Amino acid sequence: MRKKIIAANWKMNMTLTETKSFFDVFKTYLETNFKNIKIDCDLSFFSNPTLFPFLLSIKNELQTYVAGEVKIGSQNLFYENKGAYTGELSIEMLKDIGIFDSIIGHSERREIFLEDDEMIGKKVDACIKNNFVPLLCVGENLEIRQSGGEKEYVKNQIEKNIRVDIKDPNDIVIAYEPIWAIGTGKTASENDAEEMCEYIRSELESKFGKELSEDVRILYGGSVGPETIKNLFSMPNIDGALIGTASLDPEKMGTMMNEIRN
Ligand code: PGA
Repeated sequence: MRKKIIAANWKMNMTLTETKSFFDVFKTYLETNFKNIKIDCDLSFFSNPTLFPFLLSIKNELQTYVAGEVKIGSQNLFYENKGAYTGELSIEMLKDIGIFDSIIGHSERREIFLEDDEMIGKKVDACIKNNFVPLLCVGENLEIRQSGGEKEYVKNQIEKNIRVDIKDPNDIVIAYEPIWAIGTGKTASENDAEEMCEYIRSELESKFGKELSEDVRILYGGSVGPETIKNLFSMPNIDGALIGTASLDPEKMGTMMNEIRN
């Protein structure tokens, strides 16, 4: 059984002060609504680096609410280990403080910071080689979707972004995030999301074999919220969600966990 993942992508949001208020409300919500029930999912917070020390300090406490793993992750990193790369963060630095996961290749990195498939491929390579888990984002824009080229596009991203051999299904997580659904309030229908996640799994199967592909977790992301999460999570190939806007609201985060409780 692939354990579901609820992953918050906080992007360039949340100061430390805001984060402390977030968790005051979030913990109260969980204590009131869940009593001693642990939610059966992994829970990840992908934050900006200024929040890492605080988030790591409350990780054990958060662990009391979920049966799966609580993870604090980065939203980006660079593939070299050290050197003259002003402004960058290395895998070694992250691992040294207890962070073992990072989003790689989010569409905002691709579009605004001009990261190309070659750069993203190198980042994924570096993660895998260093026992660090990349949460690789793929997904088409509206124009490609309207022209019907979305599968070809995503296949090409997978080809170029995953160049190393994956040996363990937990070495990587993939998120299908159609650009037209990110931050727009337009969630892909659960059927469209499922169709692409199933397709991604079939691509993984042809690259790495059936056994491995069946255990890799594939998330959907793009305007996921309390209204849509349950239907998305009921689909056989959707193993969780990468959540932006709604994850900034502690009550919505709590409600989403509640929605998937059974
Ligand atoms: P959204 O963002 O939930 O605000 O659409 C998702 C993401 O970009 O990961």
